[in-house]
Amino acid sequence: MIANILSIAGSDPSGGAGIQADLKAIAANGAYGMAALTALTAQNTRGVSGVHRVPPAFVAAQIRAVLDDVRVDAVKVGMILDAEIAEVVADALEGREMPIVVDPVMIAKGGAALLEEDAVAVLRDRLLPLATVLTPNLPEAAALLGEDVAETRAAMAAQGAALRARGAAHVLVKGGHGSGAESADCLVSEGGAEWFGAPRIATKNTHGTGCSLSSALAARLGQGMPPAAAVHRAKAFIGDAIAGADTLTVGSGHGPVHHFVTLWP
Ligand SMILES: Nc1ncnc2c1ncn2[C@@H]1O[C@H](COP(=O)(O)OP(=O)(O)OP(=O)(O)O)[C@@H](O)[C@H]1O
Ligand SMILES: [Mg+2]
Repeated sequence: MIANILSIAGSDPSGGAGIQADLKAIAANGAYGMAALTALTAQNTRGVSGVHRVPPAFVAAQIRAVLDDVRVDAVKVGMILDAEIAEVVADALEGREMPIVVDPVMIAKGGAALLEEDAVAVLRDRLLPLATVLTPNLPEAAALLGEDVAETRAAMAAQGAALRARGAAHVLVKGGHGSGAESADCLVSEGGAEWFGAPRIATKNTHGTGCSLSSALAARLGQGMPPAAAVHRAKAFIGDAIAGADTLTVGSGHGPVHHFVTLWP
């Protein structure tokens, strides 16, 4: 049976991040993608120039419409913008059985805020505990904990464990914002930390890496893979997509990754 995956996130009209990236990543990982929008952004590869909020009741209506009708095998939560939207998303997902990937999107690559400050507490207190896998990047892990950004592997693992202690079943602390020859991510589970390494690829085209990774992960979880196996597959996928990014010619800033690099001739 083909897995049905719901992304709850914002729109990126340039197609590299947000729900557009999510749907591509889900499709590339062999699942059927769906999307409930929390916000429209006006953005391109150079940055975000506007954000248009979807009324919270309508975010809830979209999620309800899908859940009322469709067997949803996994959910990915991305940009939630503000506290009220975070609350309705938590209300809609609480008590559900399917795996949920929570990507705590806070700041776009160009620096634009995608999460209002008072929403961080709702994200931490209501959405984080619903996460099968929470996928913070280094600044997000630090912000959720009120700590400094991790600079060592030990600090990444410790922050992953501290976020797990707040209720996420697994935490994948992503190393994309780090430095060094490897872009390694740390999966913290009940049994401890497991590392997923990959060579750091020299490209400016990394728009949407986080959205794409978390959506690939949701697709793999929805297909029934255990978390560590799903992370392994999703990490291989994003590595290939970043390695293929420079073959696309999209915009003059940070271009998108190539979701279909291994599928297209
Ligand atoms: N240059 C790179 N080479 C290889 N892997 C990378 C590179 N940059 C990021 N990654 C990987 O991409 C995934 C996403 O990590 P990253 O830390 O970039 O997330 P993010 O900051 O949430 O992304 P976004 O800015 O799109 O939200 C991780 O698996 C990370 O290791
Ligand atoms: Mg991100």
